[in-house]
Amino acid sequence: MSHFSKATITIGFFLLLQLFVSGVFSDCGCDHTIEEGAFFINGEELGIKPGDVVCIMSGSYRALRFRAINGVQNNPVVIKNCGGQVLVSNDELGYAVVFEWSSSFFHFTGTGDSSFEYGFEIIANKTGGGAMGVSLTDLSTNYEVDHLEIHHTAFAGLMAKTDPKCDGSADQDKFVQRDIEIHHLYVHHTEGEGFYIGSTQTNGQKITCDGVEEVHYPHFLEGVNVHSNILSHTGWDGAQVGFAKSDCKVWNNTIFDVGSGGVKYQQQGLQIGSYSACEVYNNVITDGPACGIIVIESGESTFYNNLIANVDIGVFADHRGRVPNAGYGFFFNTIVNYTTHGLRLWGDEHTNSKAISNIIVGPEIQLYPEESNEQWTISNNLLYETAPEGLFVSENDLMLGDDSPARGAGLRRQGIEIDLNWEKRPNPPAAGVYEHPDDWIVDDDDDDDDIVSSHSRLDVQILTSSLLLLLIAIIML
Ligand SMILES: *[C@@H]1O[C@H](CO)[C@@H](O)[C@H](O)[C@H]1NC(C)=O
Ligand SMILES: *[C@@H]1O[C@H](CO)[C@@H](O)[C@H](O)[C@H]1NC(C)=O
Ligand SMILES: *[C@@H]1O[C@H](CO)[C@@H](O)[C@H](O)[C@H]1NC(C)=O
Repeated sequence: MSHFSKATITIGFFLLLQLFVSGVFSDCGCDHTIEEGAFFINGEELGIKPGDVVCIMSGSYRALRFRAINGVQNNPVVIKNCGGQVLVSNDELGYAVVFEWSSSFFHFTGTGDSSFEYGFEIIANKTGGGAMGVSLTDLSTNYEVDHLEIHHTAFAGLMAKTDPKCDGSADQDKFVQRDIEIHHLYVHHTEGEGFYIGSTQTNGQKITCDGVEEVHYPHFLEGVNVHSNILSHTGWDGAQVGFAKSDCKVWNNTIFDVGSGGVKYQQQGLQIGSYSACEVYNNVITDGPACGIIVIESGESTFYNNLIANVDIGVFADHRGRVPNAGYGFFFNTIVNYTTHGLRLWGDEHTNSKAISNIIVGPEIQLYPEESNEQWTISNNLLYETAPEGLFVSENDLMLGDDSPARGAGLRRQGIEIDLNWEKRPNPPAAGVYEHPDDWIVDDDDDDDDIVSSHSRLDVQILTSSLLLLLIAIIML
Protein backbone atom coordinates (compact mmCIF):
# COMPACT_ATOMS: atom_id res chain seq x y z
CA MET A 1 0.00 0.00 0.00
CA SER A 2 1.51 3.37 -0.97
CA HIS A 3 2.03 6.09 1.62
CA PHE A 4 -0.35 8.27 -0.30
CA SER A 5 -3.28 5.89 -0.11
CA LYS A 6 -2.50 5.06 3.50
CA ALA A 7 -2.76 8.77 4.36
CA THR A 8 -5.97 9.06 2.40
CA ILE A 9 -7.44 6.14 4.25
CA THR A 10 -6.36 7.57 7.60
CA ILE A 11 -7.90 10.94 6.80
CA GLY A 12 -10.94 9.16 5.47
CA PHE A 13 -11.23 7.25 8.72
CA PHE A 14 -11.12 10.39 10.83
CA LEU A 15 -13.70 12.07 8.63
CA LEU A 16 -15.88 9.03 8.99
CA LEU A 17 -15.36 9.03 12.74
CA GLN A 18 -16.28 12.69 12.94
CA LEU A 19 -19.38 12.10 10.86
CA PHE A 20 -20.30 9.23 13.13
CA VAL A 21 -19.72 11.22 16.33
CA SER A 22 -21.68 14.23 15.08
CA GLY A 23 -24.36 11.90 13.77
CA VAL A 24 -24.91 10.48 17.23
CA PHE A 25 -24.45 13.58 19.32
CA SER A 26 -25.46 16.64 17.34
CA ASP A 27 -26.60 16.08 13.77
CA CYS A 28 -30.30 16.65 13.17
CA GLY A 29 -30.52 13.73 10.75
CA CYS A 30 -31.64 16.03 7.95
CA ASP A 31 -32.67 14.76 4.54
CA HIS A 32 -33.32 18.33 3.40
CA THR A 33 -31.85 21.54 4.75
CA ILE A 34 -33.64 24.85 4.51
CA GLU A 35 -31.46 27.92 5.05
CA GLU A 36 -32.20 31.50 6.01
CA GLY A 37 -33.90 33.40 3.22
CA ALA A 38 -36.13 30.51 2.17
CA PHE A 39 -39.80 31.36 1.68
CA PHE A 40 -41.59 28.62 -0.29
CA ILE A 41 -40.84 25.03 0.63
CA ASN A 42 -42.36 22.92 -2.08
CA GLY A 43 -42.39 19.21 -1.30
CA GLU A 44 -42.73 18.18 -4.93
CA GLU A 45 -39.87 20.34 -6.18
CA LEU A 46 -37.57 19.29 -3.36
CA GLY A 47 -38.48 15.61 -3.72
CA ILE A 48 -39.61 15.34 -0.11
CA LYS A 49 -40.71 11.78 0.59
CA PRO A 50 -42.57 10.08 3.45
CA GLY A 51 -40.26 9.74 6.46
CA ASP A 52 -37.91 12.52 5.31
CA VAL A 53 -36.60 15.01 7.85
CA VAL A 54 -36.72 18.60 6.68
CA CYS A 55 -34.47 20.82 8.80
CA ILE A 56 -35.18 24.49 9.09
CA MET A 57 -31.75 25.82 10.06
CA SER A 58 -31.72 28.28 12.93
CA GLY A 59 -31.93 31.90 11.90
CA SER A 60 -34.48 34.46 10.81
CA TYR A 61 -37.13 34.00 8.19
CA ARG A 62 -39.80 36.40 7.00
CA ALA A 63 -42.37 33.66 6.42
CA LEU A 64 -42.44 29.97 5.53
CA ARG A 65 -44.98 28.55 3.10
CA PHE A 66 -44.99 24.78 3.00
CA ARG A 67 -46.61 23.33 -0.12
CA ALA A 68 -47.47 19.76 -1.00
CA ILE A 69 -45.63 18.25 1.95
CA ASN A 70 -46.89 14.67 1.92
CA GLY A 71 -45.97 11.78 4.13
CA VAL A 72 -48.09 8.69 4.62
CA GLN A 73 -49.85 7.14 7.61
CA ASN A 74 -47.27 6.17 10.28
CA ASN A 75 -44.47 7.69 8.20
CA PRO A 76 -44.89 11.45 8.25
CA VAL A 77 -42.55 14.07 6.89
CA VAL A 78 -40.83 15.65 9.90
CA ILE A 79 -40.14 19.38 9.77
CA LYS A 80 -38.06 20.70 12.64
CA ASN A 81 -35.65 23.41 13.70
CA CYS A 82 -31.95 22.53 13.64
CA GLY A 83 -28.92 24.12 15.30
CA GLY A 84 -30.88 26.46 17.55
CA GLN A 85 -34.09 28.41 17.37
CA VAL A 86 -35.86 29.59 14.25
CA LEU A 87 -37.50 33.00 14.18
CA VAL A 88 -40.27 33.54 11.64
CA SER A 89 -41.48 37.13 11.77
CA ASN A 90 -42.94 39.81 9.58
CA ASP A 91 -45.33 42.69 10.01
CA GLU A 92 -46.73 43.03 6.48
CA LEU A 93 -48.07 39.60 5.40
CA GLY A 94 -51.28 37.83 6.42
CA TYR A 95 -49.30 34.91 7.89
CA ALA A 96 -45.97 33.76 9.22
CA VAL A 97 -46.16 29.97 8.62
CA VAL A 98 -48.57 28.32 6.19
CA PHE A 99 -49.21 24.72 5.19
CA GLU A 100 -51.08 24.51 1.89
CA TRP A 101 -51.51 22.59 -1.38
CA SER A 102 -53.08 19.55 0.29
CA SER A 103 -50.18 18.89 2.65
CA SER A 104 -50.77 15.75 4.68
CA PHE A 105 -49.10 13.42 7.17
CA PHE A 106 -46.49 15.84 8.40
CA HIS A 107 -45.10 16.60 11.83
CA PHE A 108 -44.08 20.20 12.38
CA THR A 109 -42.11 20.32 15.61
CA GLY A 110 -39.95 22.73 17.55
CA THR A 111 -38.06 19.97 19.34
CA GLY A 112 -35.00 20.10 17.06
CA ASP A 113 -32.63 21.54 19.67
CA SER A 114 -32.96 20.43 23.26
CA SER A 115 -31.81 23.80 24.60
CA PHE A 116 -35.06 25.37 23.36
CA GLU A 117 -38.49 24.40 24.68
CA TYR A 118 -40.03 26.08 21.65
CA GLY A 119 -37.77 25.65 18.63
CA PHE A 120 -39.78 28.12 16.57
CA GLU A 121 -40.72 31.65 17.55
CA ILE A 122 -43.45 32.87 15.24
CA ILE A 123 -44.70 36.45 14.92
CA ALA A 124 -47.24 37.84 12.41
CA ASN A 125 -47.65 41.40 13.59
CA LYS A 126 -49.29 42.89 10.49
CA THR A 127 -50.29 46.50 10.88
CA GLY A 128 -54.03 46.87 10.55
CA GLY A 129 -54.82 43.30 11.62
CA GLY A 130 -55.70 40.03 9.88
CA ALA A 131 -52.57 37.89 10.13
CA MET A 132 -52.22 34.27 11.30
CA GLY A 133 -49.17 32.95 13.14
CA VAL A 134 -49.60 29.42 11.77
CA SER A 135 -52.23 28.57 9.18
CA LEU A 136 -52.96 24.93 8.34
CA THR A 137 -55.22 25.23 5.36
CA ASP A 138 -55.89 24.53 1.68
CA LEU A 139 -56.98 20.91 2.23
CA SER A 140 -54.15 20.13 4.66
CA THR A 141 -54.92 17.15 6.89
CA ASN A 142 -53.39 14.48 9.18
CA TYR A 143 -50.73 16.48 10.96
CA GLU A 144 -49.07 17.05 14.31
CA VAL A 145 -47.83 20.47 15.40
CA ASP A 146 -45.92 21.04 18.63
CA HIS A 147 -43.41 23.09 20.60
CA LEU A 148 -43.87 26.48 18.95
CA GLU A 149 -44.12 29.88 20.56
CA ILE A 150 -46.54 32.03 18.61
CA HIS A 151 -47.13 35.63 19.63
CA HIS A 152 -48.11 39.09 18.47
CA THR A 153 -50.33 37.88 15.68
CA ALA A 154 -52.70 40.34 14.03
CA PHE A 155 -55.41 37.66 14.06
CA ALA A 156 -55.43 34.03 15.26
CA GLY A 157 -52.30 32.45 16.70
CA LEU A 158 -53.03 29.18 14.92
CA MET A 159 -55.78 28.43 12.42
CA ALA A 160 -56.61 24.88 11.34
CA LYS A 161 -59.34 24.73 8.68
CA THR A 162 -59.94 25.14 4.99
CA ASP A 163 -62.50 27.68 3.93
CA PRO A 164 -64.84 26.66 1.11
CA LYS A 165 -63.38 26.99 -2.38
CA CYS A 166 -65.18 27.80 -5.62
CA ASP A 167 -64.31 24.38 -7.12
CA GLY A 168 -66.18 22.76 -4.21
CA SER A 169 -63.16 20.69 -3.17
CA ALA A 170 -63.38 21.83 0.46
CA ASP A 171 -67.14 21.29 0.78
CA GLN A 172 -68.67 19.22 3.56
CA ASP A 173 -69.32 16.23 1.30
CA LYS A 174 -65.88 16.32 -0.36
CA PHE A 175 -63.25 16.94 2.29
CA VAL A 176 -62.69 15.83 5.86
CA GLN A 177 -59.80 17.15 7.93
CA ARG A 178 -58.56 14.14 9.88
CA ASP A 179 -56.38 13.30 12.85
CA ILE A 180 -54.73 16.51 13.87
CA GLU A 181 -52.76 16.87 17.08
CA ILE A 182 -51.79 20.28 18.39
CA HIS A 183 -49.79 20.32 21.60
CA HIS A 184 -47.17 22.09 23.68
CA LEU A 185 -47.65 25.43 21.96
CA TYR A 186 -47.25 28.68 23.82
CA VAL A 187 -49.51 31.25 22.20
CA HIS A 188 -49.90 34.76 23.55
CA HIS A 189 -50.79 38.30 22.55
CA THR A 190 -53.00 37.48 19.61
CA GLU A 191 -55.48 40.00 18.23
CA GLY A 192 -57.88 37.22 17.26
CA GLU A 193 -58.30 33.74 18.80
CA GLY A 194 -55.38 31.82 20.25
CA PHE A 195 -56.57 28.73 18.33
CA TYR A 196 -59.18 28.73 15.59
CA ILE A 197 -59.85 25.09 14.79
CA GLY A 198 -62.65 24.22 12.37
CA SER A 199 -65.36 26.48 11.04
CA THR A 200 -68.06 28.45 12.82
CA GLN A 201 -70.23 28.85 9.69
CA THR A 202 -72.93 26.35 10.58
CA ASN A 203 -75.46 27.78 8.17
CA GLY A 204 -73.03 27.82 5.30
CA GLN A 205 -70.36 30.25 4.23
CA LYS A 206 -70.92 32.80 1.48
CA ILE A 207 -68.13 33.04 -1.06
CA THR A 208 -67.99 34.90 -4.37
CA CYS A 209 -67.18 32.80 -7.43
CA ASP A 210 -67.00 34.43 -10.89
CA GLY A 211 -68.74 37.43 -9.44
CA VAL A 212 -71.64 35.37 -8.11
CA GLU A 213 -72.28 34.80 -4.41
CA GLU A 214 -72.58 31.11 -3.47
CA VAL A 215 -73.21 29.33 -0.17
CA HIS A 216 -70.92 26.40 0.65
CA TYR A 217 -71.00 24.20 3.74
CA PRO A 218 -67.63 23.89 5.49
CA HIS A 219 -65.89 20.55 6.03
CA PHE A 220 -65.97 18.45 9.18
CA LEU A 221 -63.03 17.41 11.34
CA GLU A 222 -62.60 13.83 12.53
CA GLY A 223 -59.86 13.31 15.07
CA VAL A 224 -58.84 16.46 16.93
CA ASN A 225 -56.40 16.25 19.83
CA VAL A 226 -55.54 19.60 21.38
CA HIS A 227 -53.53 19.36 24.58
CA SER A 228 -50.88 20.80 26.86
CA ASN A 229 -50.96 24.24 25.31
CA ILE A 230 -50.66 27.57 27.09
CA LEU A 231 -52.83 30.31 25.63
CA SER A 232 -52.91 33.79 27.08
CA HIS A 233 -53.57 37.43 26.34
CA THR A 234 -55.82 36.76 23.40
CA GLY A 235 -57.87 39.55 21.85
CA TRP A 236 -60.73 37.17 21.03
CA ASP A 237 -61.46 33.68 22.41
CA GLY A 238 -58.65 31.65 23.92
CA ALA A 239 -59.51 28.70 21.69
CA GLN A 240 -62.42 27.58 19.60
CA VAL A 241 -63.16 24.22 18.07
CA GLY A 242 -65.95 23.76 15.59
CA PHE A 243 -67.27 21.02 13.26
CA ALA A 244 -65.16 18.46 15.13
CA LYS A 245 -67.71 15.75 14.60
CA SER A 246 -65.91 12.79 16.13
CA ASP A 247 -62.94 11.80 18.25
CA CYS A 248 -62.24 15.27 19.63
CA LYS A 249 -60.23 15.82 22.80
CA VAL A 250 -59.23 19.10 24.40
CA TRP A 251 -57.19 18.51 27.55
CA ASN A 252 -54.47 19.85 29.83
CA ASN A 253 -54.57 23.33 28.34
CA THR A 254 -54.01 26.46 30.38
CA ILE A 255 -55.99 29.41 29.10
CA PHE A 256 -56.00 32.83 30.77
CA ASP A 257 -56.51 36.52 30.14
CA VAL A 258 -58.72 36.20 27.09
CA GLY A 259 -61.02 38.52 25.16
CA SER A 260 -59.16 41.79 25.65
CA GLY A 261 -60.40 42.99 22.24
CA GLY A 262 -63.81 43.70 23.75
CA VAL A 263 -65.68 42.21 20.77
CA LYS A 264 -69.00 40.74 21.93
CA TYR A 265 -69.32 36.94 21.51
CA GLN A 266 -65.57 36.72 20.89
CA GLN A 267 -64.37 36.73 24.46
CA GLN A 268 -64.67 33.14 25.68
CA GLY A 269 -61.95 31.06 27.25
CA LEU A 270 -62.86 27.98 25.22
CA GLN A 271 -65.64 27.54 22.70
CA ILE A 272 -66.86 24.11 21.67
CA GLY A 273 -68.95 24.84 18.62
CA SER A 274 -71.33 23.32 16.10
CA TYR A 275 -71.45 19.54 15.71
CA SER A 276 -68.35 19.07 17.88
CA ALA A 277 -68.36 15.94 20.00
CA CYS A 278 -65.50 16.52 22.41
CA GLU A 279 -64.06 15.33 25.65
CA VAL A 280 -62.85 18.45 27.43
CA TYR A 281 -60.85 17.72 30.56
CA ASN A 282 -58.12 18.86 32.93
CA ASN A 283 -58.04 22.38 31.54
CA VAL A 284 -57.48 25.48 33.66
CA ILE A 285 -59.37 28.46 32.28
CA THR A 286 -59.23 31.79 34.09
CA ASP A 287 -59.68 35.52 33.68
CA GLY A 288 -61.99 36.58 30.89
CA PRO A 289 -64.91 38.96 30.44
CA ALA A 290 -67.44 36.37 29.18
CA CYS A 291 -67.67 32.55 29.60
CA GLY A 292 -64.95 30.20 30.78
CA ILE A 293 -66.37 27.55 28.46
CA ILE A 294 -69.16 28.14 25.96
CA VAL A 295 -70.84 25.24 24.24
CA ILE A 296 -72.87 26.14 21.18
CA GLU A 297 -74.98 23.54 19.38
CA SER A 298 -72.31 20.93 19.78
CA GLY A 299 -72.72 17.17 19.64
CA GLU A 300 -72.51 14.80 22.60
CA SER A 301 -69.71 16.23 24.76
CA THR A 302 -68.22 15.71 28.20
CA PHE A 303 -66.51 18.28 30.39
CA TYR A 304 -64.61 17.14 33.46
CA ASN A 305 -61.84 18.20 35.84
CA ASN A 306 -61.88 21.73 34.45
CA LEU A 307 -60.98 24.57 36.78
CA ILE A 308 -62.68 27.82 35.84
CA ALA A 309 -62.28 31.14 37.67
CA ASN A 310 -62.64 34.89 37.28
CA VAL A 311 -65.12 35.04 34.41
CA ASP A 312 -68.65 36.35 33.90
CA ILE A 313 -70.26 32.92 33.38
CA GLY A 314 -68.40 29.72 34.28
CA VAL A 315 -69.98 27.52 31.62
CA PHE A 316 -72.75 28.39 29.20
CA ALA A 317 -74.22 25.63 27.05
CA ASP A 318 -76.70 26.44 24.32
CA HIS A 319 -78.16 23.32 22.71
CA ARG A 320 -80.30 24.66 19.84
CA GLY A 321 -81.00 21.07 18.74
CA ARG A 322 -78.33 21.11 16.05
CA VAL A 323 -77.40 17.57 17.01
CA PRO A 324 -80.70 16.08 18.22
CA ASN A 325 -80.62 14.39 21.65
CA ALA A 326 -76.97 15.26 22.23
CA GLY A 327 -76.27 15.28 25.96
CA TYR A 328 -73.72 17.52 27.61
CA GLY A 329 -72.09 16.07 30.69
CA PHE A 330 -70.38 18.20 33.35
CA PHE A 331 -68.48 16.26 36.00
CA PHE A 332 -65.92 17.16 38.66
CA ASN A 333 -65.48 20.76 37.54
CA THR A 334 -64.66 23.54 39.98
CA ILE A 335 -66.07 26.93 39.10
CA VAL A 336 -65.33 29.97 41.30
CA ASN A 337 -65.26 33.76 41.10
CA TYR A 338 -67.83 34.19 38.38
CA THR A 339 -70.05 37.24 38.14
CA THR A 340 -73.46 36.07 36.92
CA HIS A 341 -73.83 32.28 36.51
CA GLY A 342 -71.84 29.23 37.45
CA LEU A 343 -73.12 26.61 35.04
CA ARG A 344 -75.96 27.65 32.81
CA LEU A 345 -77.82 25.54 30.26
CA TRP A 346 -79.89 27.14 27.57
CA GLY A 347 -82.46 25.70 25.17
CA ASP A 348 -85.02 22.94 25.48
CA GLU A 349 -83.15 19.83 24.52
CA HIS A 350 -81.12 19.09 27.59
CA THR A 351 -82.92 15.86 28.52
CA ASN A 352 -79.66 13.94 28.24
CA SER A 353 -77.48 16.54 29.94
CA LYS A 354 -75.95 15.98 33.36
CA ALA A 355 -74.24 18.01 36.07
CA ILE A 356 -72.73 15.73 38.70
CA SER A 357 -69.94 16.13 41.27
CA ASN A 358 -69.14 19.77 40.50
CA ILE A 359 -68.19 22.49 42.98
CA ILE A 360 -69.64 25.86 42.11
CA VAL A 361 -69.03 28.85 44.35
CA GLY A 362 -70.51 32.21 43.47
CA PRO A 363 -73.43 34.54 43.69
CA GLU A 364 -77.10 34.04 42.87
CA ILE A 365 -77.56 31.01 40.72
CA GLN A 366 -74.93 28.31 40.73
CA LEU A 367 -76.86 25.99 38.45
CA TYR A 368 -79.34 27.25 35.92
CA PRO A 369 -81.96 25.92 35.25
CA GLU A 370 -82.48 25.44 38.99
CA GLU A 371 -82.53 22.02 40.56
CA SER A 372 -86.30 21.82 40.29
CA ASN A 373 -86.01 21.68 36.53
CA GLU A 374 -86.39 18.02 35.64
CA GLN A 375 -84.99 18.18 32.17
CA TRP A 376 -81.50 17.24 33.16
CA THR A 377 -79.78 15.08 35.73
CA ILE A 378 -78.27 16.90 38.68
CA SER A 379 -76.64 15.29 41.67
CA ASN A 380 -73.74 15.42 44.14
CA ASN A 381 -72.89 19.03 43.30
CA LEU A 382 -71.61 21.34 46.03
CA LEU A 383 -73.15 24.75 45.47
CA TYR A 384 -72.28 27.75 47.64
CA GLU A 385 -72.61 31.49 47.47
CA THR A 386 -69.40 31.80 49.42
CA ALA A 387 -66.94 29.04 50.11
CA PRO A 388 -67.30 27.62 53.64
CA GLU A 389 -64.16 27.57 55.77
CA GLY A 390 -61.91 24.70 54.73
CA LEU A 391 -63.67 23.79 51.47
CA PHE A 392 -60.44 24.77 49.73
CA VAL A 393 -56.97 25.20 51.19
CA SER A 394 -57.30 28.93 50.50
CA GLU A 395 -58.86 31.42 48.14
CA ASN A 396 -55.93 30.98 45.76
CA ASP A 397 -55.30 27.29 46.29
CA LEU A 398 -58.36 25.26 45.36
CA MET A 399 -56.96 21.98 46.60
CA LEU A 400 -59.25 20.60 49.28
CA GLY A 401 -58.81 21.44 52.95
CA ASP A 402 -58.35 18.54 55.40
CA ASP A 403 -61.95 18.77 56.57
CA SER A 404 -63.38 19.79 53.23
CA PRO A 405 -67.01 18.78 52.70
CA ALA A 406 -66.03 17.96 49.12
CA ARG A 407 -64.00 14.87 50.13
CA GLY A 408 -65.98 11.80 49.17
CA ALA A 409 -68.95 13.91 48.12
CA GLY A 410 -68.81 13.01 44.43
CA LEU A 411 -70.28 10.13 42.49
CA ARG A 412 -67.96 7.63 40.86
CA ARG A 413 -68.11 7.87 37.10
CA GLN A 414 -66.89 5.23 34.68
CA GLY A 415 -64.10 6.63 32.50
CA ILE A 416 -63.09 9.41 34.85
CA GLU A 417 -60.40 7.83 37.01
CA ILE A 418 -58.09 10.80 37.64
CA ASP A 419 -58.27 14.32 39.05
CA LEU A 420 -56.70 17.57 37.88
CA ASN A 421 -53.39 16.48 39.41
CA TRP A 422 -53.54 13.27 37.32
CA GLU A 423 -53.88 11.34 40.57
CA LYS A 424 -56.23 8.37 40.82
CA ARG A 425 -59.55 9.13 42.44
CA PRO A 426 -60.91 6.90 45.19
CA ASN A 427 -64.47 5.60 45.41
CA PRO A 428 -66.45 7.61 46.34
CA PRO A 429 -64.48 10.45 44.73
CA ALA A 430 -64.47 14.08 45.82
CA ALA A 431 -66.62 16.68 44.11
CA GLY A 432 -64.68 19.23 42.07
CA VAL A 433 -61.35 19.02 40.27
CA TYR A 434 -59.09 17.87 43.09
CA GLU A 435 -58.88 14.94 45.43
CA HIS A 436 -57.29 15.58 48.82
CA PRO A 437 -53.73 14.08 48.70
CA ASP A 438 -54.63 11.65 51.51
CA ASP A 439 -57.31 10.20 49.23
CA TRP A 440 -55.10 9.59 46.19
CA ILE A 441 -54.92 5.95 45.17
CA VAL A 442 -51.21 5.31 44.81
CA ASP A 443 -49.98 2.55 42.45
CA ASP A 444 -46.55 1.13 43.02
CA ASP A 445 -45.62 0.04 39.52
CA ASP A 446 -42.21 1.35 38.54
CA ASP A 447 -42.21 2.84 35.05
CA ASP A 448 -38.62 4.06 35.35
CA ASP A 449 -37.18 0.66 34.48
CA ASP A 450 -38.11 0.98 30.82
CA ILE A 451 -36.39 4.32 30.46
CA VAL A 452 -33.18 3.07 32.05
CA SER A 453 -33.00 0.00 29.85
CA SER A 454 -33.62 1.95 26.65
CA HIS A 455 -30.78 4.29 27.60
CA SER A 456 -28.41 1.42 28.15
CA ARG A 457 -29.49 -0.16 24.86
CA LEU A 458 -28.44 3.04 23.08
CA ASP A 459 -25.11 3.06 24.93
CA VAL A 460 -24.44 -0.49 23.85
CA GLN A 461 -25.23 0.44 20.24
CA ILE A 462 -22.80 3.36 20.34
CA LEU A 463 -20.09 1.22 21.91
CA THR A 464 -20.51 -1.56 19.34
CA SER A 465 -20.39 0.87 16.41
CA SER A 466 -17.29 2.57 17.81
CA LEU A 467 -15.45 -0.73 18.24
CA LEU A 468 -16.39 -1.74 14.71
CA LEU A 469 -14.96 1.49 13.27
CA LEU A 470 -11.78 1.07 15.28
CA LEU A 471 -11.42 -2.48 13.96
CA ILE A 472 -11.85 -1.32 10.35
CA ALA A 473 -9.24 1.38 10.93
CA ILE A 474 -6.71 -1.09 12.37
CA ILE A 475 -7.18 -3.51 9.47
CA MET A 476 -6.73 -0.71 6.93
CA LEU A 477 -3.57 0.65 8.54
C1 LIG B 1 -46.15 44.50 17.11
O1 LIG B 1 -46.66 45.74 16.63
C2 LIG B 1 -46.97 46.66 17.65
C3 LIG B 1 -47.64 47.85 16.99
O2 LIG B 1 -47.00 48.21 15.82
C4 LIG B 1 -45.70 47.03 18.40
O3 LIG B 1 -46.00 47.91 19.44
C5 LIG B 1 -45.08 45.76 18.98
O4 LIG B 1 -43.84 46.06 19.58
C6 LIG B 1 -44.87 44.72 17.90
N1 LIG B 1 -44.44 43.49 18.55
C7 LIG B 1 -43.57 42.62 18.03
C8 LIG B 1 -43.26 41.44 18.87
O5 LIG B 1 -43.09 42.75 16.92
C1 LIG C 1 -49.67 19.43 30.63
O1 LIG C 1 -49.22 20.57 29.94
C2 LIG C 1 -48.02 21.13 30.45
C3 LIG C 1 -47.72 22.36 29.62
O2 LIG C 1 -48.68 23.31 29.86
C4 LIG C 1 -46.91 20.13 30.38
O3 LIG C 1 -45.75 20.66 30.96
C5 LIG C 1 -47.32 18.86 31.11
O4 LIG C 1 -46.32 17.88 30.95
C6 LIG C 1 -48.63 18.32 30.57
N1 LIG C 1 -49.10 17.20 31.36
C7 LIG C 1 -49.43 16.02 30.84
C8 LIG C 1 -49.93 14.99 31.79
O5 LIG C 1 -49.32 15.78 29.65
C1 LIG D 1 -60.97 34.68 43.42
O1 LIG D 1 -61.07 36.07 43.70
C2 LIG D 1 -60.28 36.49 44.81
C3 LIG D 1 -60.64 37.94 45.09
O2 LIG D 1 -60.48 38.70 43.95
C4 LIG D 1 -58.82 36.29 44.48
O3 LIG D 1 -58.01 36.68 45.55
C5 LIG D 1 -58.57 34.83 44.16
O4 LIG D 1 -57.24 34.66 43.70
C6 LIG D 1 -59.51 34.33 43.06
N1 LIG D 1 -59.38 32.88 42.93
C7 LIG D 1 -58.82 32.30 41.88
C8 LIG D 1 -58.74 30.80 41.92
O5 LIG D 1 -58.39 32.89 40.91
